[in-house]
Amino acid sequence: MKIRKAVIPAAGYGTRMLPLTKAQPKEMLPVVHKPVIQYVVEEAYYSGIREILIITGRHKRAIEDHFDRSDLPKKDKYTEELDRILDEVDIFFVRQREQKGLGDAVRYAEAFVDDEPFALLLGDNITIPNCTKELVECFVKLRSPVLSVEELPLEKLSLHGVIKGRMFKKGIYLVEDIVEKPKPREAPSNLCVLGRYILTPKIFDHLKAIDPGYGGEYQLTDAIRRMLSSSEVYAHLYTGKRYDIGNKLDWLKANVELALKDEEIGDDFRSWLEQFSMKTLKFKGDDGLQ
Ligand code: UTP
Repeated sequence: MKIRKAVIPAAGYGTRMLPLTKAQPKEMLPVVHKPVIQYVVEEAYYSGIREILIITGRHKRAIEDHFDRSDLPKKDKYTEELDRILDEVDIFFVRQREQKGLGDAVRYAEAFVDDEPFALLLGDNITIPNCTKELVECFVKLRSPVLSVEELPLEKLSLHGVIKGRMFKKGIYLVEDIVEKPKPREAPSNLCVLGRYILTPKIFDHLKAIDPGYGGEYQLTDAIRRMLSSSEVYAHLYTGKRYDIGNKLDWLKANVELALKDEEIGDDFRSWLEQFSMKTLKFKGDDGLQ
């Protein structure tokens, strides 16, 4: 069974990135040459997906403009690449009326998804290498919903959804439970969901049945938890890098990693960074700079 459709929620406030996100969506923050959301759309495209629904909301108009065909007199290779992708992909938009949580945002995708399994990619996360491609390959074999998970240290577990899983085969777990942002001591494992999922349309029944959960918001995690009693749900261990551009440190790290790998500026950036870190390390001894 092919995955043809993807849903990208991008309606969240982005308060952790203030004041950067006061007048612009966090999904439009630059990571080297492109805004974050362009990486996410490209991740879906290179996973074979050809129909994408982006869930936007108040103050998110720039996202829609970004996916228009460029009318600039001059284009660079990144704009050309995007135009080429846009020739093959249909992108649709729907507005979440109120920011009531990820679980509420995903509900807006029901008509678009119709009766097909679909990929769900958070619009503020970048994965290197392509996590959705791995998930799609997993789904084709397992034919049940699959979540991507990563191993995180104890102190980070309370920031994420955490699963309890039984090893199914190497790198794949059968999910037995899932909890949103548990207290570190109550986390059922160190396996955290990372914003990439393959779901089936059954999720919408569960999304309709849940009450507001953690933080007073509708949580996708709670709908997945509800689904566990009637469907098998698997977790795929992702061992690549995931950057959450909704937090400032990850945003900076993503810029550094991708700038170092960049054909155009990578070498110059590396030399500058080497010199900079040597100087800074020397400084640290002098005046205690961290
Ligand atoms: P976050 O947990 O990052 O929340 O959302 P947020 O509101 O965007 O950011 P902060 O916490 O205020 O800094 C995870 C994903 O869910 C989407 C976000 O756009 C992001 O992709 N989301 C969240 C929605 O689409 N709608 C919502 O109501 C909440």
